[in-house]
Amino acid sequence: MARPKRFQSLLDLGRGTGLAGALFRPFVTQLVGVDLSAAEIARAEAKGYYNRLVVGNLAAFLTNEIANQTKYDLVVAADVFVYLNDLAPVLAAIARALAPRGIVTFTVETHSGAGVALLPTLRFAHADGYLRDAIAGAGLKLITLGKPPSAPKKWCRLLALWSSPLPAVPVRVRHPEVRVKRASKDERP
Ligand SMILES: C[S@@+](CC[C@H](N)C(=O)[O-])C[C@H]1O[C@@H](n2cnc3c(N)ncnc32)[C@H](O)[C@@H]1O
Repeated sequence: MARPKRFQSLLDLGRGTGLAGALFRPFVTQLVGVDLSAAEIARAEAKGYYNRLVVGNLAAFLTNEIANQTKYDLVVAADVFVYLNDLAPVLAAIARALAPRGIVTFTVETHSGAGVALLPTLRFAHADGYLRDAIAGAGLKLITLGKPPSAPKKWCRLLALWSSPLPAVPVRVRHPEVRVKRASKDERP
């Protein structure tokens, strides 16, 4: 099954000043952003990339979207999960708000131990094994963990580009209903 070159709806969790908005706008019909900070939302609003911007906690926002049966085919969370200790509930909520064939991409900081660690920077670091368990527990399928793909597809390169400037580990997961062909050699983590 071919993957979409264009996304119908993108949800940008913790979108800050809207960097992802600028990057993904040409590939997305409906761009939605949520952030705790009203000041950040105002800055993103001024850029004009987003169709809908919401001030609020991403967990509460997802609960509302699930209740309204709103679905997204791309969910991004760049440098936001470092503020969350337990990712299991948020990944489970994202899975419920994800359209069939949908994709989730996020960044984390990691550590060599097990579980979740609070770093001296007061950011949370999530171990590899913890992430794999949380992703599987949410019913999502892992595509790549730890290395942006150098795939030839335009939208894949886009995701890689988005991830690469961040000092973090990029992760991509997908909706479980999709059957994707085996990753090409340069896409494997
Ligand atoms: C480091 S910034 C990243 C911004 C943007 N995603 C980027 O890559 O440039 C983290 C953002 O996440 C927001 N944030 C942190 N915790 C959040 C939460 N629980 N719900 C919604 N937004 C949150 C902060 O307000 C901040 O704007």
